[in-house]
Amino acid sequence: MLRSADPDLASPRFKANPHGFYARLRATAPVHRAALPGGQTAWLVTRYDDVAATLKDERLAKDVINALSDEQQARQPWMPGFLKPLTRNMLDLDGTDHARLRALVHKAFTPRLVEQLRGRVQALADDLLDAVPDSGRIDLIRDYALPLPLTVISDLLGVPRADRRQFHRWSRRIVSVTSARDLPAALPAIWFFMRFLRRLFAIRRADPQDDLLTALLRAEEAGDTLSEDELLAMVFLLLTAGHETTVNLIGSGALALLEHPDQLALLRENPALGKTAIEELLRFTSPVEMATQRYAREPIAIAGTTIPRGDQVLAVLASANRDERQFAQPGLLDLTRAPNRHLALGQGIHYCLGAPLARLEGQIAIVTLLRRAPDLRLTVPPDALRWRKGLFLRGLERLPLAV
Ligand code: HEM
Repeated sequence: MLRSADPDLASPRFKANPHGFYARLRATAPVHRAALPGGQTAWLVTRYDDVAATLKDERLAKDVINALSDEQQARQPWMPGFLKPLTRNMLDLDGTDHARLRALVHKAFTPRLVEQLRGRVQALADDLLDAVPDSGRIDLIRDYALPLPLTVISDLLGVPRADRRQFHRWSRRIVSVTSARDLPAALPAIWFFMRFLRRLFAIRRADPQDDLLTALLRAEEAGDTLSEDELLAMVFLLLTAGHETTVNLIGSGALALLEHPDQLALLRENPALGKTAIEELLRFTSPVEMATQRYAREPIAIAGTTIPRGDQVLAVLASANRDERQFAQPGLLDLTRAPNRHLALGQGIHYCLGAPLARLEGQIAIVTLLRRAPDLRLTVPPDALRWRKGLFLRGLERLPLAV
């Protein structure tokens, strides 16, 4: 049922504490048709079992073209032609298109290869903390949680250091788009980002390096494995997904620990808990609040509600991760929680490609912060913290701390 009383799901105010709303939906309307900002509607799926099943359900398409009737396609919001290449990214594709693109980069993100980055990630975390001013006052997001994953994914792909903050400003603008109505204002950022990438491709073609971008360009040149559009979409996705998410894990994870001093002390005294701690912080903070859109290829019944063909379905990971049917005391932060089958990294064929990297970065960032900052504390009242606007991600604008 569509209720006009629904909150604005993308607003900073809702983001500050979405859990009460999701708990009500789980109890009374586990598959709920909600109004999205901009006037569209989508079905929110909120219970753990239903979210897990939704993510794996082949009757739900990621590529909207695979779900809509001709008539529905004609009613799709207009999209400027220059954006079309970006729709060829693996996260928005199904079946063999998806599998081929994922296979091309999967190797770069295997746990073994990612583990080899450990020393570099650790050195980076230490460098960032070495740079803390004498006042000890920092914005953890700007000074630590963001530059860490931004530098790692940029180094992996081969984006020059000087360009990183700039492309982050574009990607930040892009991930805050919540509806087709918002899109026009973000078009310049998308256009500049695409132009930047095309120029980078030209530079790297002329001067190959030992980086992922050079490897992808070789795959493109080898012929039919990767088209120019797919290459652009791939690099765009990797750069964006590779840092806009982890920044939230580190930022919201640090805040969760500050709000649970017993757990903070536990981890500080037992850094070996880092592995289970990061799983719990993933569950508790859900940096990706909802999985990206899926579209019903046919009428689908979920928890007794039938979703018509072509309708949009949003699997709410943050809600699944707090479902009392799956987790004992889900509102409790317990860094030793085991088993912990959270869905923060998705499930099924679109399961996070960067999961090993996200875990490594999150663990090193949090454990190093606790080790290096024995008097870590917030320098503003918790209710003064502002959350970023946006539908899919959840993270803080700033986290002012004394370290
Ligand atoms: C804490 C950090 C991260 C979280 C919480 C996260 C979460 C997710 C989730 C939930 C999905 C599935 C989305 C869906 O099904 O709609 C996903 C997919 C993806 N993630 Fe991550 N991610 C993180 C870090 C990363 C990193 C560091 C990379 C670096 C490359 C990355 C790359 C991707 C890609 C490429 C996909 C699409 C995979 C596909 O379609 O097969 N992510 N991520």
